[in-house]
Amino acid sequence: MNTHESAQKKPASTDDKFVQVIDVVKKFDETTAVDGVSLSVARNELFALLGSSGCGKSTLLRMLAGFETITSGKILIDGEDMSKLPPYKRPVNMMFQSYALFPHMSVESNIAFGLKQEGVGKGEIAERVADALNLVQMSKYAKRKPFQLSGGQQQRAALARSLVKRPKVLLLDEPMSALDKQIRQRTQIELVNILYKVGVTCIMVTHDQEEAMTMADRLAVMSEGRIVQLGAPNEVYEYPNSKFAASFIGSTNLFAGVIVEDQPDHIYVESPELKQRMFISHGVTGPLGMPVTISVRPERVVLSRAKPAQETNFSVGKVVNIAYMGGYTIYHVQLESGKVVMANVSTLMFDETEPPGYDAEVYVSWGPTAGVVLTK
Ligand SMILES: Nc1ncnc2c1ncn2[C@@H]1O[C@H](COP(=O)(O)OP(=O)(O)OP(=O)(O)O)[C@@H](O)[C@H]1O
Ligand SMILES: [Mg+2]
Repeated sequence: MNTHESAQKKPASTDDKFVQVIDVVKKFDETTAVDGVSLSVARNELFALLGSSGCGKSTLLRMLAGFETITSGKILIDGEDMSKLPPYKRPVNMMFQSYALFPHMSVESNIAFGLKQEGVGKGEIAERVADALNLVQMSKYAKRKPFQLSGGQQQRAALARSLVKRPKVLLLDEPMSALDKQIRQRTQIELVNILYKVGVTCIMVTHDQEEAMTMADRLAVMSEGRIVQLGAPNEVYEYPNSKFAASFIGSTNLFAGVIVEDQPDHIYVESPELKQRMFISHGVTGPLGMPVTISVRPERVVLSRAKPAQETNFSVGKVVNIAYMGGYTIYHVQLESGKVVMANVSTLMFDETEPPGYDAEVYVSWGPTAGVVLTK
């Protein structure tokens, strides 16, 4: 399949703002589904919208596609205001949350459908359909009906149907919701490869944080119609800006406390949940006594039988739950305060020692760089 025609003629300066969503609000009567969202997506970027059910992801996508009007704000694609354009005139193709192939049509007729409607000539349709099938590795299933395909094959057929129209922007709403975990993971990687090969700008919605982390160049975490945080997956994971973002992307241990010593290069935090003080080796600007939350990822928590040789960032507790995950084990350790701390322990750790069992007394500890200070 060819990349889209416009690729060479636009100045480079629009490339990082290929899709612009500016202060967009969507109200349905008394519900504000999207509450002042602004974001830019670069050309050929794979951008993910992430958030819990009902936070406005599909509504935002539908406004990009033109299936929903905007209450206020603006959407530009490749510099062009979309407000006056009906869906079929936008350089966009949307694959819906339930991607519904036409059940009575073969795979190839499904893919050809949109091109026929556009009045594309027969020869060109045949060529483009063949290209699209080849791209998603579905050529040998061209004559089959959807019910004769596996979930993953149906998903690829639906994707070919979206790609064949050569949209500048591809909108995918939960494209893998129908797939089981194994095929889902494989399809995620295949899909990323296909999108890079075609060179298409893609905005996808998912509520699966692992999916967003594996696939997206950047992601936005949404809550109640707003963007809570936007960044590369590793940025959002390592430097969450709020309790919501920290617990939404991956799991984490949150300790509520106050700053008791504030130096330029470190702070001490006291929390009623932990006997010892917490030490964080980077400063934050905030007055003493300021309430903060410290986020410590479970993979940064060390589990030991012996008391760790450090004065801060540790506590003794009792093992209350053990979840074996294969490559690692998640220990839940209840501290004297009642707080339960999660520690991911690599399976390698137990090659030489007997792993602690339920009710065992253990220490949890972490280093000076492990904690992230959250102020909201
Ligand atoms: N046509 C509509 N009329 C009234 N309210 C609507 C309409 N469409 C969506 N909503 C409301 O807007 C909010 C956002 O809905 P949206 O479908 O965008 O959520 P979502 O983030 O896609 O959720 P999910 O993950 O469950 O698909 C919800 O509270 C929903 O009930
Ligand atoms: Mg939705």
